[in-house]
Amino acid sequence: LSTRFKVGGRTHTISELFSENRELDTTILGWVQNKSRVGGVIFLTIRDGSGYIQTTFKKDQVSAEVFEKAKEVTVESAVKVSGRTKIDKRAPGGLEIVGKEFEIIAKAEPWPIVKSAVKSPSFLYDIRHLSIRGKRASSAIKIRSKVIEAAADYFFKNGFYLISAPTIVQSACEGGATLFEVNYFGKKAFLTQSAQLYEEAAIAALERVWTVEPCFRAEKSKTSKHLTEFWMIEAEVAFATHEDIMRLEEELVVEITNRVANECSQELNILGRKFKPPEPPFYRITYDEARELIMKKGIFFEWGEDIPTEGEKIISNEFDKPVFIKEFPLSARSFYHMTKPDNDKVTLSSDLIAPEGYGEITTGGQRLSDYSELEKRVMQQELPRESFEWYLELRKYGMPPHSGFGLGVERTVRWIAGLKHIRAASLFPRTLTRLNP
Ligand code: 4AD
Ligand code: MG
Repeated sequence: LSTRFKVGGRTHTISELFSENRELDTTILGWVQNKSRVGGVIFLTIRDGSGYIQTTFKKDQVSAEVFEKAKEVTVESAVKVSGRTKIDKRAPGGLEIVGKEFEIIAKAEPWPIVKSAVKSPSFLYDIRHLSIRGKRASSAIKIRSKVIEAAADYFFKNGFYLISAPTIVQSACEGGATLFEVNYFGKKAFLTQSAQLYEEAAIAALERVWTVEPCFRAEKSKTSKHLTEFWMIEAEVAFATHEDIMRLEEELVVEITNRVANECSQELNILGRKFKPPEPPFYRITYDEARELIMKKGIFFEWGEDIPTEGEKIISNEFDKPVFIKEFPLSARSFYHMTKPDNDKVTLSSDLIAPEGYGEITTGGQRLSDYSELEKRVMQQELPRESFEWYLELRKYGMPPHSGFGLGVERTVRWIAGLKHIRAASLFPRTLTRLNP
């Protein structure tokens, strides 16, 4: 928050006061996060969008009217405080405001989120519209913002165009099992699972594109890593191979993790997360190697099946930084994947697995760019050809080899912020059982 965007008579944001770190006259706006009284002194912790600061009102140093207002103000009321900052080792962060003037802008009713009311974690999500004001909840959301900011900076620095694809679609990118159906004026439509197919059309015009958009999956299982609506950062690059795209993913994840570590240390601290950004290069193993490792630990699955959740967890815990699992069997993948030149059962694709048990954060790979091969796949997998006609047609008009990937925003935030459940990475999570607020 910059004072250049001034509203409501504020002279500083709280973070600006801490970076000034000296005595000065100030007016801040915010909310009362906490209130206590020791004798003739009222302590208010004020929160704005940028941070928290302790404010004191001393009975013998302010007008009776100001003291009365400080005494009666309730937690979560919106307020305006004027005073002088003072360096004081006893105050959190070493700085406090000695209050002189005080205005209650909007008084709050008794705050419902008190220890005795919080009987289950789901209570906090039932009143998410209020609980997002909490230190931990808002820290996760600030980290999410930084993840997207860092990705945007990375892509724009590297010559990518931002595109936006439709979210109401007819062609399913990732298979029928998780599609949400929409009645589109009597026609059957779906909510998008991924912008990939549209990105592929766009690269023939723009060469390198990226997008960040909501994706929808009718996930029927309750897990700590699935949302039914989540955001995906996706990129697609003309002329790029699968190897190129893994390098891009690696660079992007390095950029994102370093930015969060450097610029969100306050938020990571609040969440109790000790996060060290991973050093490139990340590990790279094949599906076959991953399967062997997993089976050695007693979890069996047939070659050709997708890696089961417990198996993914084993890989995730095995390595001390992110690891690409590449060369997935075609049978475990969507229809558009390119296969290896010498093995048509194995795709040029990979999942990036975050460490510490967090698991998959990206999937990427090279796409089929040949018309007749893709046509064969559409028929083999009995996809509704009419809705893929346009996607096929791209291959008739100069479609070079190309690759891309998608990174789940909330999955990535969950890992970096060390969140138990992915819902904490979403402002208003949508899951199998939650549609409100
Ligand atoms: O692995 P997915 O399904 O891959 C695709 O959709 C590709 N079309 C992307 C591309 O190549 N452009 O999804 C990509 C990522 C996953 O790795 C995961 O991080 C996240 O999206 N994701 C989910 N996040 C939360 N809840 C869900 N239900 C998710 N499903 C996928
Ligand atoms: Mg995937």
